[in-house]
Amino acid sequence: MTPDTPTASSTPVVEVSNLVKRFRRESGAVVNAIDDVSFEVAAGDFVVLLGPSGCGKTTLLRAIAGLETPDQGAIRIGGRAVFSAADRVEVPPERRDISMIFQSYALWPHMTAFKNVAYPLQSRRGRKVAKDEIARRVRQALELVGVGELETQYPGQMSGGQQQRIALARALVNNDELVLFDEPLSNVDAKVREQLRFELVSMQRKLGFSALFVTHDQTEAMELAHRIAVLDSGRIAQFGTPRRSTTGRPPATSRSSSARSTRSSARSPRSRETAWSSTPRTGGSWGRAWAGGSPSVTGWPRCGVPSEESSVARSPAR
Ligand SMILES: Nc1ncnc2c1ncn2[C@@H]1O[C@H](COP(=O)(O)OP(=O)(O)OP(=O)(O)O)[C@@H](O)[C@H]1O
Ligand SMILES: [Mg+2]
Repeated sequence: MTPDTPTASSTPVVEVSNLVKRFRRESGAVVNAIDDVSFEVAAGDFVVLLGPSGCGKTTLLRAIAGLETPDQGAIRIGGRAVFSAADRVEVPPERRDISMIFQSYALWPHMTAFKNVAYPLQSRRGRKVAKDEIARRVRQALELVGVGELETQYPGQMSGGQQQRIALARALVNNDELVLFDEPLSNVDAKVREQLRFELVSMQRKLGFSALFVTHDQTEAMELAHRIAVLDSGRIAQFGTPRRSTTGRPPATSRSSSARSTRSSARSPRSRETAWSSTPRTGGSWGRAWAGGSPSVTGWPRCGVPSEESSVARSPAR
């Protein structure tokens, strides 16, 4: 159960290898929620997992966070094995140095904004943070997401957009190298969503964390991603870089994505790296927006029955 020692700084922040997670339904039927998935997230990378309801996006994030135990495969974070079915390694969530942000804001209703954001700093095992340092970092995180004036408010006294900003501050306060986002913008209205996307891209650039972001919204994927992985029935069907030239919007990073793409495709033989165009997006079919991809892809991938939000524990403690 001894995790490996981290290696050089060029080590991917996340390496997922041949991951499998099956669920047994009450009926006895078995669902392959993650079906032999392999991919990497490089330092500073913004990878979006795109796919329709029930295709395994949340399960994959939860497995990386340590909230779900896969059946097969391995996960390395910063070069350290945090899960390996073969070697019987399973590092608990609080020792993975990952932050996760959920669709439902998952704030503690009885805590002020300040206390909600301070929670991860106070609850981490083995790393005591001094009280004044906590106060400094919480205020810095609240300012960063633009809600510094709300520190004494309770979640019930805030708008949805404000609550999601608090949740974002809580995810960023630890300065973790990796932040997992599970559809964090889908509960806020379109205008706020657009604003938060823009801010998220600049925050990621400024802070330099690596992001793995789940969405079923193709536009969102195009706006945020350095690379997009399309999930289809628990498998990565396609892997590509968004082509932003047609929107006039600059790439989210100045770093070369081709180097990352080459490395990723070399390690993930089943993934195909290609470029995405953000237009046209007729009828919401991502397949038609695929530039240079598979002609067989013409709509949403196959997927299982829609999963219920409640199937995923949304504890505010996370
Ligand atoms: N605890 C569980 N028990 C049984 N089946 C589960 C469980 N959690 C997820 N599943 C099933 O695994 C599949 C993948 O679910 P998951 O929540 O990962 O999908 P998703 O892509 O996140 O969907 P959504 O976009 O609706 O959130 C679904 O078919 C779902 O019903
Ligand atoms: Mg989900």
